[in-house]
Amino acid sequence: MVREAVESLRLKLGARRPTIGLVLGSGLGAYAETVRDPVSVPYAEIPHFLVPAVAGHAGMLWCGTIGEQTVVALQGRCHPYEGYSMADLVHPVRTLIGLGCRTIILTNAAGGINPAYQAGDLVLMSDHLNLLGQHPLKGQNDDALGPRFPDMTEVYSARLRNHARVCAEIAGLKRGGTDTIRQLPKDGVYAAMAGPSYETPAEIRMLQAMGADLVGMSTVHEAIAARHMGAEVIGISCVTNLAAGISPTPLSHDEVKAAADEARPRLVAWLNEIIGRLPQAA
Ligand code: HPA
Repeated sequence: MVREAVESLRLKLGARRPTIGLVLGSGLGAYAETVRDPVSVPYAEIPHFLVPAVAGHAGMLWCGTIGEQTVVALQGRCHPYEGYSMADLVHPVRTLIGLGCRTIILTNAAGGINPAYQAGDLVLMSDHLNLLGQHPLKGQNDDALGPRFPDMTEVYSARLRNHARVCAEIAGLKRGGTDTIRQLPKDGVYAAMAGPSYETPAEIRMLQAMGADLVGMSTVHEAIAARHMGAEVIGISCVTNLAAGISPTPLSHDEVKAAADEARPRLVAWLNEIIGRLPQAA
């Protein structure tokens, strides 16, 4: 599957050789359209790619340059709650790595569990809890992709988190000076729930007790598949709402999209620095 997708995309990308891959989550996809000298390919034209049905997920691959770097960005993703197999869900991120991306940047919209977080915060993922009830590497292992029992001690690269923190400062994301932009909050543990309902307040208390700072319905299976293949991963959550029971109001997808819209310019500025200044692969 990966070979077929990579071969098909190579024809469309021409001389472009991307080394950084991005997956842009709910409401965050517009960043893909900012690449220079872009080529875009609808998922429907890429072998074995699923086409997202959720509002805010466009279903388009973009390749182009940001600064000196060639990137390939996925505008939108499918989610486990849509009923697809884990293998199908991680196929796009595997394809990015198959194209030559050794760095994968995963973004998502998430509920904030940590009381220090506010809606609109951008948070670096430090680790995750896979509570999807599924695993992307279940089944026969393809030794050509990675080992049967891959290490998950550092799914989200500490080296690249340090880099991203420096870039947040450069992009003006830290409090200080005259800007009103909130300080970059502390890194967070992301709990992936199967959804599609948002959590109950009791579930959020459970996740809090388990050490989660963020909750969402994506990303961790992609991160596991990327680590399996040896890529370095950065995870960025956009806190679109306070989690159930912490928020005084019921949760809605409209609220999630509106908060992602508000955070997007800051995410764009941050991603431009992270990508433009990315250190060589370890
Ligand atoms: N829970 C789960 N997924 C989410 C949330 C949430 O509160 N906000 C955005 N995605």
